[in-house]
Amino acid sequence: MKKIVFITGAGISAESGITTFRDSDGLWEHYRVEDVASIEGYWRNPELVIGFYNDRRRQLGSVKPNRAHLLVAELEKMYDVTVVTQNVDNLHEQAGSSNIIHLHGELMKATSTDNPNDPDCIVTLPSTDSVINYGDKAKDGSQLRPFIVWFGEAVPMIEPAAEEVAKADIVVIVGTSLNVYPAAGLVNYASRNADIYLIDPAPHNVPQNMGVHVIAKKATEGMEELCNLLNNKE
Ligand code: APR
Repeated sequence: MKKIVFITGAGISAESGITTFRDSDGLWEHYRVEDVASIEGYWRNPELVIGFYNDRRRQLGSVKPNRAHLLVAELEKMYDVTVVTQNVDNLHEQAGSSNIIHLHGELMKATSTDNPNDPDCIVTLPSTDSVINYGDKAKDGSQLRPFIVWFGEAVPMIEPAAEEVAKADIVVIVGTSLNVYPAAGLVNYASRNADIYLIDPAPHNVPQNMGVHVIAKKATEGMEELCNLLNNKE
């Protein structure tokens, strides 16, 4: 079986109704990214940040995976598929994908403020009543916080992700502006023989000199086109 690695970003969830980060006015759901998605922002106002992610989690409860997520999962019938996502939603899981690496954490998990990457401190929140309250404690006694990798924090999953990309026969980048490192550099780990596709209606920062096949379409349409291209190649 050939191996496909998907590198996905906010754009794959856009058609499910989750807003992307850099498409509108520089604000994310009316907040400045520095205030709600950086470790400094969390230290300045933990209550605000915890509440912000409670809202994002509530929003996640009302959206569904779209055709693009479903096609990524369906490709497992013919390929060994790994999804490396920058998204903190669980729409790839809901669509049925089996191998998912979350680079930037997971909305449905919580962890310790003092030891965010300690596996003993990471808990999955119940799907109902998935609220973190200011004052809730992690296993180590520190404030429970969202399990999100914020700007200014280490990205421990980047190494396993790079190892997967290096083994891929096909790499498909979907719906990311490729602005945020280290995720944006992952494609550089691809083998020289790998076929590389990029699906995005407004392609940004397209990697050069790698023969990237750009499909300038929304994720749902672009994934249909990718599946047709792959079928014709087999
Ligand atoms: N289908 C596919 N792509 C789309 C769609 C769509 N329907 N709508 C928008 N896009 C594309 C945009 O053209 C853009 O290139 O999705 C991309 C979204 O880019 P960003 O908003 O920058 O999101 P992303 O690249 O995932 O951001 C990376 O930044 O704030 C941090 O940690 C956060 O994981 C996030 C990281």
